[in-house]
Amino acid sequence: MRTVTVGVLGSGTVGQDVLNLIARRESVFSDLGVKIEVSGVLVRDVNKVRDVPPGTRVTTDPGFLQECGVVIEAMGGVDRPLAMLLPYLRSGRPVITANKALLAERWDVLRDYALAGSLYYEASVMAGTPVIGPMSTVLRASTFTRLQAVLNGTCLYILSQMEAGREYAAALAEAQALGYAETPPTLDVGGFDTAHKLAVLARFCADGNFPYSAVAVQGIEHITQQDIQDARAAGECIKLVAELQRQGDGWKATVAPQRLPDTHPLCTAGTGRNALVYEGEECGTLVFAGGGAGGMITASAMVGDLLDWVIGFPGHVPLH
Ligand code: NAP
Ligand code: HSE
Repeated sequence: MRTVTVGVLGSGTVGQDVLNLIARRESVFSDLGVKIEVSGVLVRDVNKVRDVPPGTRVTTDPGFLQECGVVIEAMGGVDRPLAMLLPYLRSGRPVITANKALLAERWDVLRDYALAGSLYYEASVMAGTPVIGPMSTVLRASTFTRLQAVLNGTCLYILSQMEAGREYAAALAEAQALGYAETPPTLDVGGFDTAHKLAVLARFCADGNFPYSAVAVQGIEHITQQDIQDARAAGECIKLVAELQRQGDGWKATVAPQRLPDTHPLCTAGTGRNALVYEGEECGTLVFAGGGAGGMITASAMVGDLLDWVIGFPGHVPLH
């Protein structure tokens, strides 16, 4: 049996469930001849009560990273995780992350590691609903033409609660309590989290260097009850929509609220479900739909990435 030492950065909504799912999948790793040993979990406050497997070493000292074979980052932020991960990546070891802000905003630094197959980030877009896997593999054989997607669980929740008559502020507070929202939630309601995710996706289907700054962003803060009720009266729903399509020789990437007919696949995906409509010349129109936020669904993608690494699959390689 080979022992793999794993370091985890963060033990919040996502990190705790990653730890629990690794423990729950012990026999799956064991069938692959691997024993996973979590050597440390980095947090800010060791005194917080956490739902993690007994004996987990929770610490504020990142020293344990040096001894790890794999690092799982579920901490959030941009420059702080980058500073911790870079020396580690430089030594050729793999990183699994759910951090779309980091991927979107520091791609200039991370791209070479992604090209080398050292970065695994299925969880960064639509959590455990797989879209990065197909886009980084089989879908490359098709000529991409357009995508339209609902990628933010917090906005989805707020807008659906407002459809049911709730106030914006109360719905946002609930989305925070459910563990869906970023810190700060402006990242969600301002459209920036969706833009981060769209930039990550664009690097698989449009341009491997697609810059986050090329996404035009508008959020949902200005949407009123009246807007929602007007849309409902017309048989439409309001969603925060990410879109990527050809424009001349380049690409147009936007995030903005849109009124869509109730029959649109982004509306029929089901309550609380993220959705992505992918159009390619040869593959036709594909629809991916499922949960896109929450601890365990995100952990399922991260532990899936860990299994991929154990099996020997490379990370998610963008367009060259
Ligand atoms: P969270 O609940 O706020 O947890 C963050 C964890 O990181 C906490 O344990 C916190 O420590 C630790 N942490 C933060 N800053 C730190 C620092 N400077 N030094 C040491 N530890 C630090 O966040 P989350 O919801 O789990 O999200 C984590 C990441 O996953 C983010 O990148 C997010 O975008 C991404 N993500 C989240 C979801 C979701 O549904 N929540 C889904 C997909 C992707 P303390 O506990 O001591 O405060
Ligand atoms: N804050 C994000 C959302 C978490 O609401 O979709 C999942 O990426």
